[in-house]
Amino acid sequence: MNIRCAKPEDLMNMQHCNLLCLPENYQMKYYFYHGLSWPQLSYVAEDEEGHIVGYVLAKMEEDPEDSVPHGHITSLAVKRSHRRLGLAQKLMDQASRGMIECFDAQYVSLHVRKSNRAALHLYKNTLKFSVSEIEPKYYADGEDAYAMRRNLGEFREKVGYCSSFILFNANQI
Ligand code: ACO
Repeated sequence: MNIRCAKPEDLMNMQHCNLLCLPENYQMKYYFYHGLSWPQLSYVAEDEEGHIVGYVLAKMEEDPEDSVPHGHITSLAVKRSHRRLGLAQKLMDQASRGMIECFDAQYVSLHVRKSNRAALHLYKNTLKFSVSEIEPKYYADGEDAYAMRRNLGEFREKVGYCSSFILFNANQI
């Protein structure tokens, strides 16, 4: 299994994976908007044959009322056949790392259905997101969303540590 940055030629397969896994679907132009505007932030998981089995589609938030740079996870999914292997966690961490390294993001946000037990478990317990707000009837079918945030402070320290570690070792050569 391999996690890598999404390329423009992956976007159709990401859309396919999204259609298989989630009721929130997007037109192809929305995938291109993400891929072309923030090519450092979306990632795919591929199997040994190069088939895409999961993705994270992410962007920077352009909110004029919030001057703090922050990222947003638009969509995350892993095909049923490849769940519980840690892929979603890795995809999310890669996207967050890109947000920090390329855009100095302080936090990352997302929306999730109140009933999405698996995703809520991943966000709350594994990735340490917390609920910032409940958005009533956020989804087209009337379900409420949790708006969630992960403060990237701790993760920034980890990324900083890795960068200086690489720098330190490069200097030794
Ligand atoms: N039940 C309980 N906890 C779960 C479950 C589950 N079914 N799946 C994942 N978790 C939690 C566990 O704590 C798990 O750690 P563990 O396996 O050590 O116990 C942790 O999350 C990490 O799991 P991963 O293996 O990284 O998660 P996975 O690759 O299976 O993907 C995902 C999780 C993305 C939620 C997957 O189930 C999926 O694609 N579901 C359908 C699409 C979806 O709901 N996407 C999120 C919508 S919200 C949005 O897109 C912003």
